[in-house]
Amino acid sequence: MQRSNGQQKIDVHISIVGAGHVGKWLLESLSKKYDSERTGVRIHVDRIVARDPRKQRHGIEKEILSFNLEDAFRGPETKIVVEAISDLKASKDIACKAMENGKHWVTSSKTMALYPREIVEAAIKNRRNIGYMASVGGGTCILDRISKIPYPINTVVGVLNTTSHFILKRMLLGETYEAALHEAQSAGLAEPNPDFDVKGRDGAHKIAIVAQRAWNTAITHEQVCTEPIDTITPVDIQLASALIFRDEYGNKHPHVIMPIQIAQLQSGRLALGCFPSLVPGNHALTTIGEKENAVYIYHDGRREPVEVRGPGAGEPTADAIISDIVEIAKKDAAGIVDPPTLSRRIEVLDPGEIESEFYIRLYTQNVPGAMHKISGVLAKHMINMQMFYQPMLTMRGMRSPIAIIVDKEKGSTVQRALKEMEELGYVEDTLLLRLFH
Ligand SMILES: NC(=O)c1ccc[n+]([C@@H]2O[C@H](COP(=O)([O-])OP(=O)(O)OC[C@H]3O[C@@H](n4cnc5c(N)ncnc54)[C@H](OP(=O)(O)O)[C@@H]3O)[C@@H](O)[C@H]2O)c1
Repeated sequence: MQRSNGQQKIDVHISIVGAGHVGKWLLESLSKKYDSERTGVRIHVDRIVARDPRKQRHGIEKEILSFNLEDAFRGPETKIVVEAISDLKASKDIACKAMENGKHWVTSSKTMALYPREIVEAAIKNRRNIGYMASVGGGTCILDRISKIPYPINTVVGVLNTTSHFILKRMLLGETYEAALHEAQSAGLAEPNPDFDVKGRDGAHKIAIVAQRAWNTAITHEQVCTEPIDTITPVDIQLASALIFRDEYGNKHPHVIMPIQIAQLQSGRLALGCFPSLVPGNHALTTIGEKENAVYIYHDGRREPVEVRGPGAGEPTADAIISDIVEIAKKDAAGIVDPPTLSRRIEVLDPGEIESEFYIRLYTQNVPGAMHKISGVLAKHMINMQMFYQPMLTMRGMRSPIAIIVDKEKGSTVQRALKEMEELGYVEDTLLLRLFH
């Protein structure tokens, strides 16, 4: 069959493992929206494999549905195994098995954050291509955009966890953490057990995969410094908004607490973090919609970062999977095999070594000399205080919150100082957050 522009069309047969949300969105997009005239690739679904035969599978033709995983690898015509399951160890096993059976592998799972070396090794050994664009940023194709930057990258920063972002956005409107979490759960944006999102683990998986792509290195999620958002209180939101950042034009901006993921070269070593941070109100990060994902890629080619933003999850995830299928089908037809090597070695900083400006929140009793002693602890550790803010006057002996911003410093140094402040006897309920400017 010829395309209208005279080019030959490519036929590619795929099998899908996983008939959950993503599996169904993929089937639906392929059957109702996909345009093979535009892409030049006709996609045929040979098989969709689910696990539990007792579940109803509306919208899936019986002829292609299987409950036997082996069926995913069997079809002689099947070129690509597309996998969308929630079990990352099983996903890695499927990837390796698919490639051993001569199939390329595409996934929406964050498997590369756990098993980058095993998967790359299997791809290189079996001369297969892999695609995992849907694993970060849903349908935004963030990984693809990173690949296309022709200059050295120095920082990738963004918001890649929708649940945490939604919760902090709601807290900005005056809700408590508990109320905002409840709302996220009601909206289907948070699991009944939200720990994977709010403790920063999901974001850590995603920024690990982003860092792999930006620096061609085999980062895993365990190397990411991870801090939770569930320690943030409405008082922190208020204190942050009272701490003003003055930009280069003299304009003043309040700070907003955001759940950012960041990968940054610091003196040739990689700082990797998934932590709530104070961001000045003039940064584009603060304009991200409550269900959006976005990243800003700072590179040596231009002063302004490259922005990629869009829906972070949901149906558009299928778009990223289809892009991967199309790209791999074209490579396969052309005999091109080019999986990532992730061969570059870059040292990753320990969390305590990561340098940032810090926000310290503490509650202290109104006792004579309290502030003198607190600032004395900072001075002892050679930490420079940039800003100090106490929102209310209190009677002698009563406690009140205080916010302190300190200059760029290693996390471990600020932690040590904070511990020493707590030992003063009248400092309690402390919190340390980073600043991103
Ligand atoms: N949902 C999103 O918006 C989104 C966006 C981007 C990426 N992702 C990622 O994509 C993956 C799938 O997400 P989802 O939302 O589709 O999850 P889901 O609705 O929970 O579906 C998961 C599917 O995986 C199957 N499964 C689980 N373990 C399996 C195993 N060991 N062997 C074979 N099948 C297995 C389940 O089978 P049964 O149906 O038989 O239980 C189910 O069909 C996850 O890794 C997720 O993180 C999701």
